[in-house]
Amino acid sequence: MRQLIAGNWKMHGTLAGVAAYAAAIKAAPAHADMLICPPSPLIEPFARALAGSAVAVGAQDCHGAPQGAHTGDVHAPLLRDAGATHVILGHSERRESHGETNAHVQAKVQTAVAARLIPIVCVGESQAQRDAGEALHVVKSQLIHSLPADFTGVVAYEPIWAIGTGLTPTEDDVAAMHGAIRAALLDHLGDAGGTVKILYGGSVKPGNAASLLGQPEVGGALVGGASLKPEDLLAIAAAAPRG
Ligand code: PGA
Repeated sequence: MRQLIAGNWKMHGTLAGVAAYAAAIKAAPAHADMLICPPSPLIEPFARALAGSAVAVGAQDCHGAPQGAHTGDVHAPLLRDAGATHVILGHSERRESHGETNAHVQAKVQTAVAARLIPIVCVGESQAQRDAGEALHVVKSQLIHSLPADFTGVVAYEPIWAIGTGLTPTEDDVAAMHGAIRAALLDHLGDAGGTVKILYGGSVKPGNAASLLGQPEVGGALVGGASLKPEDLLAIAAAAPRG
């Protein structure tokens, strides 16, 4: 399976910065898929700047309804219309600061898929949950309750304590969690669970990418801070194993 290296710009970036970033990222290595997820107003300019390249554009969230009276929210069909092919859903920052529950995430997944967007559903435990030995249980429960039984798309394992901290799980911890996620996906989705890519996210940098991306059942990376520099995201993509 080709790996997917996805950049999550979070609430960063300007219109003025799109052209230079797009020109730099077009040099994406041929052996990995690449995706940039900027704030919503930058999706259409990015899609235009990257047209004809192998780099795709995605969104960071969508509403659970396809349209309606929801001031300030963005609907999945509009994201698709603007040029997005993917959408990150259930990121821990949204689960925490916007009170998103697994049920909200599942509704968003269904709306995104109906709009022909590929969902990237984030799961991951907090430090307290890991310390209490609950990491596997928490992640499995998020998966089962966030993914509809007919799910197609991508899952991202992002331990909350590794996001933006410079901390990463050990190689063994990553391998164990990704193996457990694969087993849970097969259990929940049947054979289709074998085709879901499982990204790792949380402090992925050029220096640790090869070891993280080389673990069994790791299908790519969801990269926050390091994705803001195209050279760093390209270095991470270059470290992806050839699949
Ligand atoms: P980070 O963020 O790479 O800055 O740790 C990852 C994410 O939140 O997707």
